[in-house]
Amino acid sequence: MIRYYTAGESHGDSLIGILEGMVAGVKIDRNRILEELRLRRLPFGRSKRMSIEKEEFEIISGVRDEFTTGAPIALRILNEDVKELKGFVPRPSHADLAGCMKYGFKNIHLIAERASARETSMRVALGTICKIFLSNFGIDFVSHTVRIGDVQSEKIYDFDFIKERRLASPIFCVDKENEGLMMKKIEEAESSGDTIGGETEVIVKGVPPGIGSHVHYDRRLDFKIGGAILSIPGVKGIEIGKILSLGSVNNDPIFIKNGKIKRRSNNAGGIEGGISNGEEIILRLKIKPPPTLRRNFPSIDLRSGKPSSAPQLRGDTCIVPSVGIVAENVLALEIANLFLEKFGGDNLEETKINWMNYIKKIKWG
Ligand SMILES: Cc1cc2nc3c(=O)[nH]c(=O)nc-3n(C[C@H](O)[C@H](O)[C@H](O)COP(=O)(O)O)c2cc1C
Repeated sequence: MIRYYTAGESHGDSLIGILEGMVAGVKIDRNRILEELRLRRLPFGRSKRMSIEKEEFEIISGVRDEFTTGAPIALRILNEDVKELKGFVPRPSHADLAGCMKYGFKNIHLIAERASARETSMRVALGTICKIFLSNFGIDFVSHTVRIGDVQSEKIYDFDFIKERRLASPIFCVDKENEGLMMKKIEEAESSGDTIGGETEVIVKGVPPGIGSHVHYDRRLDFKIGGAILSIPGVKGIEIGKILSLGSVNNDPIFIKNGKIKRRSNNAGGIEGGISNGEEIILRLKIKPPPTLRRNFPSIDLRSGKPSSAPQLRGDTCIVPSVGIVAENVLALEIANLFLEKFGGDNLEETKINWMNYIKKIKWG
């Protein structure tokens, strides 16, 4: 079973993460982790602060000579911009005000520092270790931008096409007709001191049937995925597969081809009754515009109760592509956990034997 913790603040010394439950014998490529951290940081629409956020990290424990040992893996990501901030005007749509009320503060930074999405860097780093583990079983992840503001891509692309092309786009959008329009929307929002939301699609391929369970609500794959995805700051909705209005159109027909069980469509998005069904897991995430604006917006000073405009901190104009990267890795943490619950093992070889026996038995693939 995989468990993980993160600690650290946006302008604190560093972020700390612990991943417990990873099997021994998984080769950890530091560059893979660096690459995922870089992808989270870089997309078009993010703020200049991103050039300050660094990807320097240390593996403190749980990995020896590049291979996991089965012991907890501890990571540390260093912050460059270390400072103590003070401010008393909460930013609407952030945790500032509700957090100050709950914890008894007036200085919003005592809340904002931890609520900041900087924390998601550590979830990306820990998630990448799970991605590397799952790649040994042919499981892979991709995300791409499908909407910015009111510019929507209606086209359907397959996993390999997205994987091949999305990095050529500054906003991870493979729809060339709409990519420029989406970027224009981000520029327009930026130039008026505003921000903009949208949607990203995340696809996981290679997950065998049988991850998660129907037997109890909190063992359902959708329960685990839903909670994890909605815990990403700024994500306000998630859709699994497609929901069409009539059952006869919505259901995915089952048939046999060359002795293997197949489905003609994948409206279920890879999950039926809380269990992975062997099709690609397809999720659409609805992401709100980042709340911090570079224009006046009503708030109050918590010391006096008098009206005051929310602080105009430098921030991201659009976070949609970055959220896709965070979501891939957060999903990897959840899927690795359920994968190990199903197949067990203390080292990679054991897990592989268990997985192989099962795959042969169910004639999947
Ligand atoms: C990668 C990433 C970067 C973000 N950057 C910003 C930002 O620069 N400015 C901002 O106001 N919100 C940003 N957000 C969103 C806020 O963190 C989020 O809206 C806020 O913490 C409130 O949480 P909630 O939207 O989930 O309610 C970012 C989120 C993510 C995942």
